[in-house]
Amino acid sequence: MADLHEQGILIIDFGGQTTQLIARRVREAGAYCEIHPWDCDPETIQTFKPNGIILSGGPESTIAAGAPVIHDAVFSAKVPVLGICYGMQALVKQLGGEVKAHPSQGEFGYAEVKLTQQSALLSDLPDKAGESDALDVWMSHGDRVESLPDGFSVVASSANAPIAAMADSERDIYGIQFHPEVTHTVDGEAILQRFVKTICQCDGLWTPANIIDDAIARVQKQVGSGKVLLALSGGVDSSVVATLLHKAVGSQLTCVFVDTGLLRLNEGDDVMKTFADNMGVNVIRVNAENRFLEGLAGVTDPEAKRKVIGKLFIDIFEEVAADFDDMGWLAQGTIYPDVIESAASSTGSAHLIKSHHNVGGLPAHMRMQLVEPLRELFKDEVRRIGVDMGLPAKMVYRHPFPGPGLGVRILGEVKKEYADTLRQADAIFMDALHKHDLYDKVSQAFAVFLPVKSVGVTGDGRRYDYVIALRAVETIDFMSARAAHLPYDFLDEVSRDICNSISNVSRVTYDISSKPPATIEWE
Ligand code: XMP
Repeated sequence: MADLHEQGILIIDFGGQTTQLIARRVREAGAYCEIHPWDCDPETIQTFKPNGIILSGGPESTIAAGAPVIHDAVFSAKVPVLGICYGMQALVKQLGGEVKAHPSQGEFGYAEVKLTQQSALLSDLPDKAGESDALDVWMSHGDRVESLPDGFSVVASSANAPIAAMADSERDIYGIQFHPEVTHTVDGEAILQRFVKTICQCDGLWTPANIIDDAIARVQKQVGSGKVLLALSGGVDSSVVATLLHKAVGSQLTCVFVDTGLLRLNEGDDVMKTFADNMGVNVIRVNAENRFLEGLAGVTDPEAKRKVIGKLFIDIFEEVAADFDDMGWLAQGTIYPDVIESAASSTGSAHLIKSHHNVGGLPAHMRMQLVEPLRELFKDEVRRIGVDMGLPAKMVYRHPFPGPGLGVRILGEVKKEYADTLRQADAIFMDALHKHDLYDKVSQAFAVFLPVKSVGVTGDGRRYDYVIALRAVETIDFMSARAAHLPYDFLDEVSRDICNSISNVSRVTYDISSKPPATIEWE
């Protein structure tokens, strides 16, 4: 098998909001890539041996004192270079051209650029916008390039940026002021493909099938005949890790699945069916509902509930692990964005700071070595290989579910009656979303249990029962979100179903708050 990592693109991050998007587009073009901060150790660049280098955008100005610079190792690598936005301006500054503050306010949003000269990067694109000498692009810059370094020529111009793209075909160095990684740049995907495949000559080896084969081979080499333990939650990442490890090391893998009693309807049985029954994975199911309910009795503060749930989870996992004295490896579902976040440069990084950690985070004193087969993959790649390995699409494309589960969707104290009621309401809501083809149109949807009694009327009688809130949001990054505009008829149907089929619920509300000021979860 060809070594998937032999051909790759190095992305130097100047702190741009969309650097991870660049990486995802490069992967979609079939090449492995890594993101490293602009001030990384130059050895990283030398040892990576890239086929090409992309310099990202960034929030700084190249004309400000102390602005981030391109490392000499980028130029001495003698491979094609593409500078995007800040990356282009940094190229210009360092190679002897001139960048100045924009004479008006800069250029933000849609722009049309006219191709002014043939170039390997921009000429003869498939041209989705329909005009052969113009591109519809997305710009975001306050400075602009005023004059080019020796060897470069202008290959595209916009009304506000006379030098919107540049090329030095001798040295294979390119710069574009616009952002090809965002979908608003109509031919953006084709431009990045052109750079990756034609200019850098990457052969499109990075495919789901190759990624799976490569990950299996590497895990086999890493763990040998050792035994591996995995905390399986039923979420996407741990499910894909379980599947991959099972393919790689078969019966050397043992999964621990803790049924906390705070899972969704039939979730525990579904996990067992998929992994233990259908795939033959060793799964130890620990039914710990009572332990969790006892631990949570009387606890009303959300953060205190999170701590109780997290600690119990780890206690149980350790108890199970203690039964094995020859367990050498601990598997974790770390994915590439987690790796980038922890390595982000101290300056100008736009990477998001995680506000929550999964309760699956395991203590450092567990003396096992780590195996993390998804460390190089983005979430969409994890999903794609999950489906390719035969996991049900319904499981792989599920909305995120918080580690503490229903524990943070029951406001205040958690009780079994509340969890049972919420499970039923949530299942009705999810089924309806699937039935009406709305599930995949929202980013996350769930029901929340409000432990307050409100009046309702059934037949001739008044009843005082609980309230269920429905929440559905649309978001890209989960840091901000807006309530999904679900159709009224749909909400009406769900509300009626919930009140008619759950005897202790008298009222259903739909949460229309945005984040901020609200959060996605209610606790
Ligand atoms: P919030 O409520 O902060 O949620 O707007 C943002 C995203 O994080 C998830 N979330 C959690 N995930 N443990 C987790 O693993 C938690 O304690 C937790 N709290 C919130 C939430 O579901 C949403 O996707």
